Amino acid sequence: NEGKLWGGRFAGGPSPELEALSRSTHFDWRLALYDIAGSHAHARALATAGYLTAEDEAEIHRGLDVLARRWSEGALHPAASDEDVHGALERLLLEEVGPEVGGRLRAGRSRNDQIATLFRSFLLDHSGVVQGLLLDLVDAIAAQARAHLDVIMPGRTHLQHAQPVLLSHHLLAHAWPLLRDVQRLEDWRRRTSAESPYGGGALAGNSLGLDPELVATELGFAGPAVNSIDGTASRDFVSELAFVCAQVGVDVSRLAEELILWSTREFDFVELHDSWSTGSSIMPQKKNPDIAELARGKAGRLVGNLTGVLTTLKALPLAYNRDLQEDKEPVFDSVDTLEVLLPAMTGMVATLRFNTARMAELAPQGFSLATDVAEWLVREGVPFRVAHEVAGACVRRCEELGVELADLTDDQLADIAPHLTPAVHDVLTVEGSVASRDGRGGTAPDRVREQLHLLQSTAAAL
Ligand code: ARG
Repeated sequence: NEGKLWGGRFAGGPSPELEALSRSTHFDWRLALYDIAGSHAHARALATAGYLTAEDEAEIHRGLDVLARRWSEGALHPAASDEDVHGALERLLLEEVGPEVGGRLRAGRSRNDQIATLFRSFLLDHSGVVQGLLLDLVDAIAAQARAHLDVIMPGRTHLQHAQPVLLSHHLLAHAWPLLRDVQRLEDWRRRTSAESPYGGGALAGNSLGLDPELVATELGFAGPAVNSIDGTASRDFVSELAFVCAQVGVDVSRLAEELILWSTREFDFVELHDSWSTGSSIMPQKKNPDIAELARGKAGRLVGNLTGVLTTLKALPLAYNRDLQEDKEPVFDSVDTLEVLLPAMTGMVATLRFNTARMAELAPQGFSLATDVAEWLVREGVPFRVAHEVAGACVRRCEELGVELADLTDDQLADIAPHLTPAVHDVLTVEGSVASRDGRGGTAPDRVREQLHLLQSTAAAL
């Protein structure tokens, strides 16, 4: 068991099959700098408690610095016989500073408290990267909303024409969920950076009088874990981040799906920039919304990662179990996925060209002003039940005549119901309809302008 972290009680080395199954360096090697940071802090705690002389401590820091530099240069590699990043780094440190000094570092810590701490640190950093990329996407959506404050489009429910809305209002409805995702990340970070498991040992704490406060502060946590079993065995910080990533994927997929539809010949609402769309290997005319389709597809993968983590955790007894080694790849994949997906979405959104004439042409179609007729009647004192019937009768008449609501003549309106005086024509324009929805959260241009400012000030404060 040469070079292993354990071995004293074993007569022979592990079988190659076990080693192959057990090895995690192909995915946890990326945690090396975090493990090294933990070792620096732990060496200080050991020295403070009298387990390392000043010279030995300095030698350990030097050795760790050498390893960190080599790792950053891509020149530090785990051996096939290394089980995980912790074992590999200890072996490499021993090679650098010798077994006498290096062999003192492992006192009072376990891979269980190490991994629980440095996995948190890694995810804390990457959640910040994802947050920045999300805010970039929010900015790109807000810029498009600002540029199209005068464009009216058909608002839909059930994918059917419902009521006219501002394109900006619709676009901002995609930005708010992403901003809430950013708030979720901030909330997650506050919780996850509160407690450092380091010092919890394998599960029960350490008996050497080490100061976990010192290590926690040095690693950027508010303090040490309150319960060493919870610190080493809990992974809700993993599933919660996987959830936020999945929610981001789902939110982005809803925008993506609309852009896929909008760029079809049938909708013709939007044209994708050449640099943010793809061609076909056989059909020369094609221009495909691959970024949006990949976004839609990646959402499935992100949901799968969340499901994987939760399934690993379900019914897992306390404290550490090796099952927990399965917690890393899914959430690594989630942050990696978002780190490539979000910049592509942002570029695609920033370069969209909207066919505003087409949107304006379709906005009043499909009797989308019927609610305006009903609400006009209500303002004239008609009970809504009656108003709804009357407006419905207008739609039926339009269908018979093959016209839109605005095309009904004064006589035709009066025929349907005596309440329908010529003044109803005032609300039978999409501009009038949109302007009339001026309560908070409504699509009236003034409200949408306020909404845009609120979005931007909320984003700026994050
Ligand atoms: N590599 C393990 C993990 O990722 C940490 C090591 C704990 N191993 C152990 N045998 N206690 O969770």
